[in-house]
Order: sequence, then structure tokens, then C-alpha cells
Amino acid sequence: MNKRLGVLLSGRGSNFEALADSITANRIPNAEIAIVLSNREGAPGLDRAKSRNIPARAIPSKGLERETYDREVVAVLNEHKVDLVCLAGYMRLLSPYFVGAFPNGILNIHPSLLPSFPGLESQRQALEYGVKFAGCTVHFVDENLDAGPIVLQAVVPVNDDDTEDSLSAKILQEEHKIYSEAVRIVLEGRYKIEGRRVLHTNGRSM
Ligand code: GRF
Repeated sequence: MNKRLGVLLSGRGSNFEALADSITANRIPNAEIAIVLSNREGAPGLDRAKSRNIPARAIPSKGLERETYDREVVAVLNEHKVDLVCLAGYMRLLSPYFVGAFPNGILNIHPSLLPSFPGLESQRQALEYGVKFAGCTVHFVDENLDAGPIVLQAVVPVNDDDTEDSLSAKILQEEHKIYSEAVRIVLEGRYKIEGRRVLHTNGRSM
């Protein structure tokens, strides 16, 4: 039976599309995207999902306390029998309730080499700091911001003529590759966690 992914996003949805393309191309075998959810009504990623005939809906978060909202989202993910939750530009911190509902079952993609430059505008932070290498990280999610054990990272050189846009574009290309690879590793159970370290092994199914 296919493993079922639930994708949470707040905006554009290019990482969602990269995951969907990888599933179609069998780079992530035996998987399907069961549901795409957004906390924002107008998120373009929702339309991108619908145009691929993937169920997608907004669950507006406005005015709701964090855990109350997360209980709604977890209920919908469970209704859709989701095995693995993929945050893809989802602009909310998860409550301990949400994290506890999917043990080692939530991944996030972040556009920096964590633990450098967590939070917003990571690419701008990297440029302003003057690092020579930037990149992206796929990590398991805990209740802290952009924390949790790291599954994969990719490095991107920063050139003197890079702007925030050009650096973001280079990083995004790598995001699309490593997110699919990380999802595959996790679904195939090809890892073990020791402390903060995710060690890559030969696998068992999730
Ligand atoms: C990506 O840069 C991702 O790393 C960050 O938010 C952005 C989302 O882009 N968490 P998209 O919506 O997947 O195109």
C-alpha cells in the first residue's frame, strides 16, 4: 500500500510540486500525496494542488489558539490517513500536541544550513552575514523553530555578485532535490536517530 503524505504550506508551493513530481516520476516510490492543507485561504500552492487533482483545502488559523488550531489540522490529516507530514513553506510553529501526534513523522525544509540562520529571510541573513556557502536543510520537526534532527543538507556557493533573489533561486533548486530524497529515506526507514544525529542505514518500511 502507498505511504500517504500530508503537505502543509502557506504560499507558493514549489516544494509541494517538487514532491508531487518526484512521486509521479517514481523517485519517491510507493507514495501519494493524500492532502494539501494551508493556513492561508489564498495560498497559490492550494490551486497548484487542485490542478493536479490532489485534495487541497485551507483551514484558516486566524483567531485560534495554537493548539486548538493544530487539533483541527491533525484531525484532518488523520481523516486522510496521513503517514508522513511534510511542511513546505508552512509559516507556523507546531504545538507539542501536533508534534506528539506524528512521532518522527514530520519533516520541514528550510533555506539555510541549519543551525545557521533559522527563522525568516534566511537567504538575506546569509548574504548579510557574508558566508561563502549557503544551502538548505531537511529536518525532523519538533516544537522549536527550525530545530530537530537533520536528515539532509545541500550546500550552495555564494558568489560576490549574488543577490537575495539569485541566491534564493540557487538554494530553491537544491531544496527541490533534497526534499524528495529525504522523504524517500524516511518512508523507506533508511535511518536511525542517535541523539541529534540522523544516521543513514539500509532500511525497513516506515
Ligand atoms: C522555501 O524556501 C522553504 O525552504 C521555506 O519556505 C519556502 C517555500 O517555498 N520553508 P515554496 O512555497 O515551497 O515554493
